[in-house]
Amino acid sequence: MRANPVAPALPQIQEAAQRYSENARQQLAGLINEAGPQGLPFSRWMHAALYDPLAGYYAGAPLKFGDPSAVAGAALQGDFVTAPQLTPWFGRALARQISPILSSLGTPHILEFGAGSGALAEHLLHALLPDFPDLRYFILDVSPDLAQRQQRRLAPFANHVQWLDSLPQAFEGCVIANEVLDAMPVSLFEWGEDENVYELHVVNRDDKDQDNEALPEDSRHSPLSGADSADDPPASGFEFLRVPASPALDQAVRARMPALPGYRSEINLQAESWVTGMGQWLARGVALLIDYGFPAHEYYHPQRSQGTLMCHLLHHAHSHPLLYPGIQDITAHVDFTAMADAALAGGLEVLGYTSQARFLLNCGLLQMLGELDASDTANYARQIGPVQKLLSEAEMGELFKVLAIGKQVDLDLLGFATGDRRHRL
Ligand SMILES: C[S@@+](CC[C@H](N)C(=O)[O-])C[C@H]1O[C@@H](n2cnc3c(N)ncnc32)[C@H](O)[C@@H]1O
Repeated sequence: MRANPVAPALPQIQEAAQRYSENARQQLAGLINEAGPQGLPFSRWMHAALYDPLAGYYAGAPLKFGDPSAVAGAALQGDFVTAPQLTPWFGRALARQISPILSSLGTPHILEFGAGSGALAEHLLHALLPDFPDLRYFILDVSPDLAQRQQRRLAPFANHVQWLDSLPQAFEGCVIANEVLDAMPVSLFEWGEDENVYELHVVNRDDKDQDNEALPEDSRHSPLSGADSADDPPASGFEFLRVPASPALDQAVRARMPALPGYRSEINLQAESWVTGMGQWLARGVALLIDYGFPAHEYYHPQRSQGTLMCHLLHHAHSHPLLYPGIQDITAHVDFTAMADAALAGGLEVLGYTSQARFLLNCGLLQMLGELDASDTANYARQIGPVQKLLSEAEMGELFKVLAIGKQVDLDLLGFATGDRRHRL
């Protein structure tokens, strides 16, 4: 979960993590040098910082997802907590929506993208196997390290779970992606004073003087490295460079918002093509995309002039993506209007859009909790506390949304029975 996005002083970073980060810094510096004086577009840099097989955060950062075996003795494990890690009630409520989808399709197949620690898969398998003994649960995760952790956790369900290396040819069933879209690399843009769109690239600070001679005059080293003010954490050696946007990015930005000099934000072109591409391989079924974000008019609101990039390290959130390479998560909020448009472009239908709280309540979460024994106060409090986080407007309830898209499904979706906000997209 990316709740509590306040960044006080960071805690001590373990030595193993520091070594991993130094290795990542060198790998990224090498990629930048190979790319030449304009460095790497931020989207490519973010991709490498998260998914490089040797140095990326999701490839093996020693602390992610609170793996207790990762760093012995660490005071705080993990960098952030997601809904399925908080409580099994998230998966149990989701199962209430998935169950009628599988029944109506007549195909008890689930495909989860980015299964992380495997917690959601475990909760869904527990909840659904009694009614769907032939359930097949497919997982596709770009992180081999996490896939191994999922395999260990889901060993008791080995007969039902299968990991995929690539997208299926044709899939029928229910697709789930919880906090996956926000982990896809984004392009960073900034409107110039001249009302042109610029893309932010990443360069090595150490090479700055030499590089500047080779750069066009309208390129500027931007003070966005996040390491230039007195309050900022130590520099990583990377910083941003403004480069005229490609025609494709320029067009995409202008389609979303008017020129606002100095305004900076992100566009997730990779997530859009991932959603559009689903139209090719989802033969029949529903995809539930759960993430934090808003519709385009809120995303590109004039007051949100610094974008939504957020980094997570040891349960601290901050907005300095170029720091702590390889050991911090980097995310951006999701533009759900863009995701809905991408779905339509891929020939999919938009079946529902609402807040996480509304979705879970529609699925009957409160009624399910009503079955708990309230006289066992200790257990009751333990169960209810995390559920309040899922539902609270101040935490995950309102910022997180559920978007349902799909193909050839003739079913009213329970999770959107009240409070469907498709009209706001
Ligand atoms: C923030 S974690 C969320 C994990 C999990 N869904 C949860 O809720 O705890 C993002 C996950 O998405 C995976 N991921 C990122 N991009 C992906 C993609 N294009 N396809 C599949 N998995 C992806 C990462 O490896 C990671 O497991």
